Amino acid sequence: MPATCVIGLQWGDEAKGKIVDLLTAKNDVVVRYQGGANAGHTVVFGGNKYKLSLIPSGVFRPEVKSVIASGVVIDPEAILGEISRLRASGVEIEKNLLISERAHVIFPWHKEEDRLMNDVGVRNEAIGTTLRGIGPCYRDKVGRSTAVRVGDLYRADFPERIRKICALKNQQLPSLAKNEETRATVVTLDVEKIIADYQNYAEQLKPFVGDVVNYLLDAVDADKNILLEGAQGSLLDVDYGTFPYVTSSNSSGVGITAGSGIPATFFKRIVGIVKAYTTRVGGGPFPTELHDEIGDRIRDRGNEYGTVTRRPRRCGWFDAVAVRYTSRLGGATELSVMLLDVLSGFETINLCVAYELDGKRINYFPSDVDDLARVKPIYETLPGWSEEITDVRSYDDLPENAKKYLARLSEVVGKPISIVSVGPSRDQTIIR
Ligand code: GDP
Ligand code: IMO
Ligand code: MG
Repeated sequence: MPATCVIGLQWGDEAKGKIVDLLTAKNDVVVRYQGGANAGHTVVFGGNKYKLSLIPSGVFRPEVKSVIASGVVIDPEAILGEISRLRASGVEIEKNLLISERAHVIFPWHKEEDRLMNDVGVRNEAIGTTLRGIGPCYRDKVGRSTAVRVGDLYRADFPERIRKICALKNQQLPSLAKNEETRATVVTLDVEKIIADYQNYAEQLKPFVGDVVNYLLDAVDADKNILLEGAQGSLLDVDYGTFPYVTSSNSSGVGITAGSGIPATFFKRIVGIVKAYTTRVGGGPFPTELHDEIGDRIRDRGNEYGTVTRRPRRCGWFDAVAVRYTSRLGGATELSVMLLDVLSGFETINLCVAYELDGKRINYFPSDVDDLARVKPIYETLPGWSEEITDVRSYDDLPENAKKYLARLSEVVGKPISIVSVGPSRDQTIIR
């Protein structure tokens, strides 16, 4: 069986981690290929809840190789913390983790740049990043001259390179401050401490670092089963999302090949993950957002608070215009509809089937955020269901109105639904 890809089709937090953990059982290798510690993926089984940010959500199956590929930006301190938290809860990753020497490394200056640039309004509001240094690290990667890859940590000239980069960054950082008050808070990089810290991290990570591209291409030749775990969601994709309110990587389906190095011809199954409604963290337009007690109710029932930053997530109805766009963009072969249980108890449920833009009905997702900010969602109102469904394990046993809602959602998006999730735990899953 060739590769299966799991991608988020909304603005992230679609519960990709749960599905990756579930699908890993049928795979030999699981790969994270973009993003970094901005991701927060949750896996729940056996009464325990695990949060992952850089390590693939397949790590709980010891026989499966966990790979962090070239497109990821790695914060060494964050990943070492994650490894030790996993170890403390009895999850042994040592033999099964492989980190790409091509992946780029996040340094303290990236986090400082993120902090200083974050509240610079891009258009009308701040991006509201996770402050993990993601954007600045990808910016340096594309800019090349001040970028450091994992493999560079082991080169003899590493200290000298860091001294050069730090000298430049120490000049640049104060100029990013928006006013005198902020400038007074800018940290001066302690270059020798950074060198010592990163040499120490490098030593600890050494057993895991290798040539991931060769490893994965060999796995492809051997026809191994490979699972690819997307981070963020397609609407946060730097090229195809709600730019500039996006992350700095290709988090839609288009990023899988670039981030992993696995040829596109090997991808046979692309599972698009969606919530039964929509959430978003951070700034940017969100046509179906609810600013009322219905939105509050979804946030309460879905426990919609960020895994990484604990910010309350913005909540709204399912946007089938957006998901039709992202599922076609990513070549999704099917949908996995998550958190359906959160919608129990609503008298009626709205499904956004089109937008109105300047008095005209449109079916496409606008490329410009100012247009997107102006669209009005056109809703179909469907009857809700009162029953709690967290114990339902077969599709046929779902309330009739829940089935009708799923059928209409699938019809408007134009993709079949293969998985329905009715609770956070591994077993609270309906496979069709
Ligand atoms: P990810 O970033 O896409 O992996 O998603 P997150 O882990 O950030 O957020 C998804 C949240 O929903 C987590 O807290 C999950 O434990 C939880 N979750 C997953 N599936 C379900 C479900 O079907 N119902 C409910 N109520 N919670 C779920
Ligand atoms: P997972 O993998 C939801 C959002 C941030 C911000 C924007 C840019 O858990 O689904 P960044 O720090 O990446 O520069 O922030 O993207 N964002 C996410 N939102 N889920 C995520 O990851 C996210 N990763 C980044 O809130 O709006
Ligand atoms: Mg998340």
